[in-house]
Amino acid sequence: MQSDFDLSVDIGGVKIKNPIITASGTFGYGEEYAPFLDLNALGAIVVKGLSLEPRMGNPPPRIIETASGMLNAIGLQNVGVHAFIEDKLPFLRTFDVPVIANILGDNAEDYQRIAELLNDATGLHGLEVNISCPNVSKGGIAFGSHPEMAMDVVKRVKSVTALPVIVKLTPNVTDVALIAEAVEAAGANAVSLINTITGMSIDIEKRVPHLKNIIGGLSGPAIKPVALRMVWQVANRVSIPVIGIGGIMDANDALEFLIAGATAVQIGTANFINPQASIHILKGIIAFMDRQQIRSVHDLIGTLQC
Ligand SMILES: Cc1cc2nc3c(=O)[nH]c(=O)nc-3n(C[C@H](O)[C@H](O)[C@H](O)COP(=O)(O)O)c2cc1C
Repeated sequence: MQSDFDLSVDIGGVKIKNPIITASGTFGYGEEYAPFLDLNALGAIVVKGLSLEPRMGNPPPRIIETASGMLNAIGLQNVGVHAFIEDKLPFLRTFDVPVIANILGDNAEDYQRIAELLNDATGLHGLEVNISCPNVSKGGIAFGSHPEMAMDVVKRVKSVTALPVIVKLTPNVTDVALIAEAVEAAGANAVSLINTITGMSIDIEKRVPHLKNIIGGLSGPAIKPVALRMVWQVANRVSIPVIGIGGIMDANDALEFLIAGATAVQIGTANFINPQASIHILKGIIAFMDRQQIRSVHDLIGTLQC
């Protein structure tokens, strides 16, 4: 998308032409959305979380709509890192859009191995390390809730990759900025937040949970104020770029995150409502900049007055 405005940003070494990125798990591997929008117009694409081996995910029902949001318990269904490199990456390489691989593991060694495999793949521009998933081998504790465990994962990933490393933080902690500081100290090039907030929903007639998994992750407009608060707190505590995620449905939402200190934003649940949401949001940001006579997006980032 051509414009007279400078929309380019650098997220820890991932140079993108505009600050609009599609969020992991809501945009498949890019090819699912290619019939609906020009992928080249996006700042970057983050693909579905990749594990070492393919995963089938949780049994259904695994999505339920809630007030101003949705709960999902997909269970990290994905094709696995090998099939991603062989079957999905070649398609993405045909576009002029940076591709970021979201990675997940049951233990720290898994993260390291996946990062190692992806380091040799052609056409990747960065890794997003999802430390919001359960650490199965340590009894279901999330890596993202413990600074030392988060640091260990980041150090291992950094030791085997030349790609910029973005660490995706969970909101399900008391002090998210503490985790952000820990991963920055471990060498993270950027942080992204938030992942979903844990929640549940009950069918009162049957008195059963709506989700087979009982608990799911809440996303969409309902979580935006929480996400915005966390992004602002983290942006004030770390020096690395922050990517804002959570309930961004339109340009005004995205602008709030940029003003709060996010260098870029990710669009998630909005893609399910309108596959062209990212493009509308980008156009809305340009219209805002035009109206306010702002030439560079950098004149917006972190400009909150308080
Ligand atoms: C169906 C679904 C699947 C998701 N899968 C992943 C995933 O594989 N890895 C990840 O880091 N985040 C995943 N997420 C979280 C999103 O990337 C995003 O952080 C979250 O949904 C909040 O943004 P939103 O309110 O704009 O959707 C998923 C979210 C949804 C709704």
